[in-house]
Amino acid sequence: MAYFDERKNVEDYIKMVEGYDGRELIAVLKKYLPAGSTVLELGMGPGVDLDLLAQTFTVTGSDSSSEFLEIYREKHPSADLLQLDAVTIDTERTFDCIYSNKVLHHLPKGDIRGSFTRQKETLTDSGLLLHSLWYGHKEEEHHGLRFVYYTEDELFKSTGPGFEIVATERYQEIDNSDSFYVLLRKLD
Ligand SMILES: C[S@@+](CC[C@H](N)C(=O)[O-])C[C@H]1O[C@@H](n2cnc3c(N)ncnc32)[C@H](O)[C@@H]1O
Repeated sequence: MAYFDERKNVEDYIKMVEGYDGRELIAVLKKYLPAGSTVLELGMGPGVDLDLLAQTFTVTGSDSSSEFLEIYREKHPSADLLQLDAVTIDTERTFDCIYSNKVLHHLPKGDIRGSFTRQKETLTDSGLLLHSLWYGHKEEEHHGLRFVYYTEDELFKSTGPGFEIVATERYQEIDNSDSFYVLLRKLD
């Protein structure tokens, strides 16, 4: 069973990340994406960023873990939620933006290109991607959870053709410059 498929692990994670959110990433997104645009969040976890995104955009939350989705739905019964794997993104819906905060590092390195291919298909014309990742070169596993660190260059090589870089920046989640985000636009 995957780590986040167990209720206790999900509850522990929710407690551990109390006080953390992606408001600075969302502030960047707001500069480029008009209010009211549709946003799909991949790997929404507890849904803290989804709530912030919903203040400006029309949001759909998703996660591969039904536990996270169930916990969020208990508090938000009418939320638009999909159970989606970030690689296959098995939906026919399209969105103006796909957002994730510290999610894509859980994918096997060999699957990231496939994820970007599906993301491109799931975006409307000139749609945006905003993803945050841990910065670095290593790959490690904790409690069976994979952590693949990326550099900006490595990530840009992984997206395949059809995107332009709109913005990218390192930032601090815990330690100085331990994270970065990329904002990409789908080319028509
Ligand atoms: C580190 S947590 C981040 C959660 C949330 N974005 C946040 O900032 O708190 C990673 C999330 O990605 C989800 N996840 C992991 N692998 C995934 C996959 N292959 N597809 C979709 N979601 C995935 C996990 O269930 C978890 O909710």
